[in-house]
Amino acid sequence: MRFGILTGGGDCPGLNPAIRAVVQRAARFGHDSVGFLDGWKGVRDDRSRPLDGAAVHGLVGRGGTILGSSRTNPFAKEEDAARVLATLAAHGIDALVAIGGDDTLGAARELSRRGGKVVGVPKTMDNDVAGTDWTFGYQSAVAVAVDALERLRDTADSHHRAIVLEVMGRHAGWVALGTGLAGGADATLVPEEPFDEEALLEKVRRAVAERGYALVVASEGIDLGTRRGAAGGKDEFGHELLREREVGAELAHRIEAQTGVESRSAQIGHIQRGGPPILFDRLLATRLGVGAVDLALARRFGQVAVLRGAAIVGIPFDEALGAPKTVTPDWLDLLHTFDA
Ligand code: F6P
Repeated sequence: MRFGILTGGGDCPGLNPAIRAVVQRAARFGHDSVGFLDGWKGVRDDRSRPLDGAAVHGLVGRGGTILGSSRTNPFAKEEDAARVLATLAAHGIDALVAIGGDDTLGAARELSRRGGKVVGVPKTMDNDVAGTDWTFGYQSAVAVAVDALERLRDTADSHHRAIVLEVMGRHAGWVALGTGLAGGADATLVPEEPFDEEALLEKVRRAVAERGYALVVASEGIDLGTRRGAAGGKDEFGHELLREREVGAELAHRIEAQTGVESRSAQIGHIQRGGPPILFDRLLATRLGVGAVDLALARRFGQVAVLRGAAIVGIPFDEALGAPKTVTPDWLDLLHTFDA
């Protein structure tokens, strides 16, 4: 068999180990692999590179993706869809492994509906893919954000300030939740809960009274009712670029204006998406890459390798791609045990 591999959407730590896993698992059973460049764009435009053991050597600990990524939707135009099918036929691809979040896997599902032989691997630092317990990239990104919060703690303490750390995560609050919980924030704001300004100000006042500074973690996806920054642009899948709303800066401004506590904000942005994957993400990405190849070898096309409990299993695209997975009440209860 000849395997095709692509990585699409926002990059995250774990993509390279997943690519390595697909190539090595396929090679173990005597199969070849080719990588398409920059997500679906590379399939549409027929840009690829051969992948063998030497090409993926050392990738288990490397951030980013050696294949490149993009937010290209190959089914936005019918002529692009035809080009995708033509490229796969020209390369004699027997199985395409699409590694991505909701958008990339959504395009893979469309390809599958059109008869393409495709399997999926979920990834995203947002941890919001419905059908899997965890996505790789999430824990590595949160580890970086926790480190940032701890650095902000030092300077907030020195200057007796309130500091807001704005993290990514799109419309799911998993990244903010993990950062706030593991970093010990005084308040953590997630899109799953309505913004309560009075409650936030009270938490800041109390923290400053008790220890002289306050730390707030805010998800980029919260709705403050007003907007700062540039009018949010959109990507090819129609998603607003949320960081352009600058909710962290807006919050710092409101905290200072209403509490009198000098305040600052930091937007960690894409720093969260770089760097080596942590142990959990290396292992999960490796297991999912292997799982996807095994699905293809079993001719279980149209399925996604996901983590359920401790096991890697295959489920249909439709099941993997339900509504984005958002933070559940039990996690919110846990969070507010520490920042009530
Ligand atoms: O989906 C991953 C993510 O990092 C989101 O958390 C964030 O909103 C978005 O990608 C940023 O996208 P871009 O890299 O296109 O700026």
